Amino acid sequence: IRAHLTIDPHFTVGPINRRLFGSFVEHLGRCVYDGIYEPGHPTADENGFRRDVVDLVKELGVSTIRYPGGNFVSGYRWEDGIGPRDQRPRRLDLAWHSTETNQIGLDEFATWLEGVGSELMYAVNLGTRGVLEALDVLEYANLESGTYWADRRVANGRPEPHNIRMWCLGNEMDGPWQLGHSTPEAYAQLAATTAAAMRQIDPGLELVVCGSSSAQMETFGEWERVVLEKTYDCVDYISCHAYYEPEGDDFGSFLASGVNMDRFIDAVIATADSVKAVLRSDKTMNISFDEWNVWYQSRYQEVERITDVQTWPVAPRLLEDSYSVLDAVVFGSLLISLIRHADRVTAASLAQLVNVIAPIMTEPGGQAWRQTTFYPFSLTSKLARATALELKLDSPTYDTARYGEVPLVDAVATHDDGGTTIFAVNRSLTDEVTLEIDTRALGEVESAQATSLFDDDIHAANTLARQDRVVPRPNGSARIGDGTVTVTLPPVSWTVLTLG
Ligand code: AHR
Repeated sequence: IRAHLTIDPHFTVGPINRRLFGSFVEHLGRCVYDGIYEPGHPTADENGFRRDVVDLVKELGVSTIRYPGGNFVSGYRWEDGIGPRDQRPRRLDLAWHSTETNQIGLDEFATWLEGVGSELMYAVNLGTRGVLEALDVLEYANLESGTYWADRRVANGRPEPHNIRMWCLGNEMDGPWQLGHSTPEAYAQLAATTAAAMRQIDPGLELVVCGSSSAQMETFGEWERVVLEKTYDCVDYISCHAYYEPEGDDFGSFLASGVNMDRFIDAVIATADSVKAVLRSDKTMNISFDEWNVWYQSRYQEVERITDVQTWPVAPRLLEDSYSVLDAVVFGSLLISLIRHADRVTAASLAQLVNVIAPIMTEPGGQAWRQTTFYPFSLTSKLARATALELKLDSPTYDTARYGEVPLVDAVATHDDGGTTIFAVNRSLTDEVTLEIDTRALGEVESAQATSLFDDDIHAANTLARQDRVVPRPNGSARIGDGTVTVTLPPVSWTVLTLG
């Protein structure tokens, strides 16, 4: 089986914003506590942060990190997480049926981010709070001194402002599970008022308004239209969220999840551009795809099982999905979809970072390890070049129950003066595919190096006991011909090919 790709560096999608390689840390399960923060751990630094986790986060190559939620944020009082730790309240976390100790808050998280070298993207609570609290946390985070909240930060030992640029106006306000779940009209009004007020403090903030929690929501499309019509002038991004899992053993559809992500993004762009036309606006709305991943939601119902409110646990094991090779290939294809839309998807957050549907797992007092999904992320973040290219891809197709006929191979190319890097997936469950790439427009290609993630057992995963069961392997099949490069893609595989 063969697929054919033509690359021409003159046909560009646009620059790839590094914020595309963002992630997400929520106060959920063991993401924060016993994840990034474990004071008693042998590798803990003076602030209680695990150094082994910091090293893995750096290796993963994440840019912006969204915090502190997620569903958690809709019941959160940000002030609980500042000041002397022994005076911080323990609170019920209704989103995850847990007890929140507030030992980590904005200042500690900003300190951790300095260590990993990532940017903070902060979500305000518009589920159960409003404009005033959003203004308070903005003042606390970004103003120098001389006013109440800024002075409180200084008094808490943080003389320099955190200078947070990106702010989310609530989280998944279209979802009936969300505390303070709202109609599009009511949410849009609150978001617009909050955005306008925040901009009085700093007109240059980058604000993200809530889009739909998934393209499957009944209100999808209408939600975006109503929300954008009210907020278009005062926000910079609309959010998208999407999680994928197989239905039974329909792996063919699961492998085509990127097709669904492409359609989702295209639909949001169409809606945003229609609002732009109606409003006669010169501004183009971008997308912050600030939650995406493979998530076995149907397999994990632990939250519902935590019932007795008197004993809601601290940092329970929740949403600790173990990712297979199959999952990692789908995951890699989602990154391909995001890069393909780099002109409009200018920020994205892999949900989440540690322990909770995460590329990095930890054992309390023990080791930290990389899940299969760690590799497509780290290699894409490391090897993606500055500009996404438009491609001409001719691939055989196959039928899926969920998305109809879809290409067997998907790919995206990125380019800069140093060369071209192609990311590709083969969705076939049975056959390898030879990918022929017409490289004539690139000039002479001197080197072609490929790395692939695949395995005879597509359900193989990394565990505490076998941490390196699945790792990417050099793919020695890449050949340079006269104006072409060929590479063989194994069945159910993700590949990165670097041309120099
Ligand atoms: O990432 C897990 C949860 O998924 C988030 O808290 C919520 O925003 C989404 O529904």
